[in-house]
Amino acid sequence: MRDFIENMPKAELHVHIEGTLEPELSFALAEKNNIPLPFPSPEALIAAYDFHDLPSFLKIYYAGMSVLIEEEDFYRLTWDYLEKAASQNIVYTELFFDPQGHTTRGVAFETVITGIHKAQMAAKEKLGIDSQLILCFLRDMSAESAMTHLRMAEPYLDWLVGVGLDSDELNNPPVKFKEVFSLARQWGLKLTMHCDVNQKNTQEHITQVLDDIQVDRIDHGVNALESDALCEKIKAKQLGLTVCPVSNRFVVQSLTSNEIKAMLEKGLLATINSDDPAYFRAYLNENFIALQEEGHFSKDQLLTLAGNAFKVAWLESDEKEHYLSKLNAYAQTAVA
Ligand code: ADE
Ligand code: ZN
Repeated sequence: MRDFIENMPKAELHVHIEGTLEPELSFALAEKNNIPLPFPSPEALIAAYDFHDLPSFLKIYYAGMSVLIEEEDFYRLTWDYLEKAASQNIVYTELFFDPQGHTTRGVAFETVITGIHKAQMAAKEKLGIDSQLILCFLRDMSAESAMTHLRMAEPYLDWLVGVGLDSDELNNPPVKFKEVFSLARQWGLKLTMHCDVNQKNTQEHITQVLDDIQVDRIDHGVNALESDALCEKIKAKQLGLTVCPVSNRFVVQSLTSNEIKAMLEKGLLATINSDDPAYFRAYLNENFIALQEEGHFSKDQLLTLAGNAFKVAWLESDEKEHYLSKLNAYAQTAVA
């Protein structure tokens, strides 16, 4: 199963580029940029990763960003992830980035997006991995700040495929950002939002992303399973759910394998993703492998999960067909 998973052509649709910052790179950038780190070594930094809910993770995640200063830092961050992704047979990925995590530290929007974009172009050319970029707003900041950052993005619309919403969900409902997402839609961007696992008012938030925001995809969305009506709506709209098993384990002590199976049984388009792989110490293959071990998924179920990611990717239909036929060819040779 491990070989089967590792060799399978895959797409990853839920990965925060800042969440791919490996401790070794963090130390290298800290030295280059003269930024003091409160740990003596990368190993000591990893030992301090103590996450048990969303806020405890976010605190460490935002502190980690402090070493990212210059365009070349964002280039290196993105290049390293794309190189790792290509080595895991990820052929296509959609990357989140959090500009407000940088502009609030005095790093220009242009610096961030240019470094990321240049690495995406280089990885396409040199590694053959295709990627698109999603601008995420921090939901614990104001709607005005989100709007300011959407306007900052206007000159770079060709570099973006969509907008998302992440950070602390508590008391930050989707409707807070209705106007911003409506303008993003008018500009031709796709829309997604996090509905993190086991959050307060989760049913209400999932309802809002469906009815008020009219998203094109939902990030996580596991709690939709608690409502037949929400499941029916997600199914009718054929929305993808980007589930992140290892990330969820920090909150619910399970890889949500039962929930992912239930999604497949209901015909929901669940996909598997790594979320913040450098922090959770698991990239996409490790997520698939751990999930398979916990839930004893069959090869057919794993192929369905991988296929769903290409189906709900923000690509033209001929591009989706290209990737799906690649996956199909793999299935023909690899399923005994
Ligand atoms: N930012 C980075 N990872 C996140 C997650 N899993 N949930 C919310 N915000 C995030
Ligand atoms: Zn996420």
